[in-house]
Amino acid sequence: MSRITWPLAKALPASVNLARTLPWPLGDVLLWANWNLYWLNEYLQESLGQSKVKLSYMSQAERGMFMRSIIDHAPFSLALEVGCSEGWQLLKLAKLLPETKFIGVDRDLKSLGVLENKIDLDKIENVLVHPSDVDQLSEFKSKSVDIVFSSACLLYVDSLAIKDVLANMCRIARKAVILLEQHKAGADTTSEHTYIKCGLGRGYWLHDYEKIASKVEHVTDIRLKPVRHPVWVHEQWEQFASIIEIYPAG
Ligand SMILES: C[S@@+](CC[C@H](N)C(=O)[O-])C[C@H]1O[C@@H](n2cnc3c(N)ncnc32)[C@H](O)[C@@H]1O
Repeated sequence: MSRITWPLAKALPASVNLARTLPWPLGDVLLWANWNLYWLNEYLQESLGQSKVKLSYMSQAERGMFMRSIIDHAPFSLALEVGCSEGWQLLKLAKLLPETKFIGVDRDLKSLGVLENKIDLDKIENVLVHPSDVDQLSEFKSKSVDIVFSSACLLYVDSLAIKDVLANMCRIARKAVILLEQHKAGADTTSEHTYIKCGLGRGYWLHDYEKIASKVEHVTDIRLKPVRHPVWVHEQWEQFASIIEIYPAG
């Protein structure tokens, strides 16, 4: 499945810096529109490739590397995705690993509704949807799930809360916590530079996941794999997209 690169999608990342120089509110509105258009295009691309449940699809890109890291732990019986949205990963993994049960949590009820419709349409029986927030992971029992995974969700968690969220994920996971996020070694969590503004009051955080996870109790190993051939070129994904594997003590 080859990607279609619309000229607009190429131009959007390049125009971010220009939008940032414009006075408020014009700059902010343009930044927001830019961000939304870019990710709309990405999701369109992904939908076009969605019928292919092949790991070879973009295998060295974000999604392929992430799913490979999860599948490498198979067989396992139960996995939890935090921030599953409409289930891009969840549904693919559920088809690839039919013997595994998956739980998807997200705070956005609209996205979960879309996911539930897809589950019904495709008659998928091994995915359970549960509305929740990363702040509420304490509702899951310790060592109750084999793999906890999450992509592009922890970037919404600020530098004060991130350690507790990682600690909770490590507490729940029997085997591993696997993340696809923007890892910035040495990210100064008190600095404005680790907060990327996306316009209209929205933005996200870069974290030094290795440093934060190393402070979580009972973590035995942390492995970082930079995404080799990133296709997400907006914001700083191209530079910092990483697969982060965190191994809690058994
Ligand atoms: C950029 S989307 C990524 C969705 C999906 N993981 C993917 O890779 O396509 C981020 C998702 O995280 C969810 N999210 C953000 N903050 C959250 C929180 N505090 N608790 C639960 N879900 C959250 C959003 O609702 C959204 O569905």
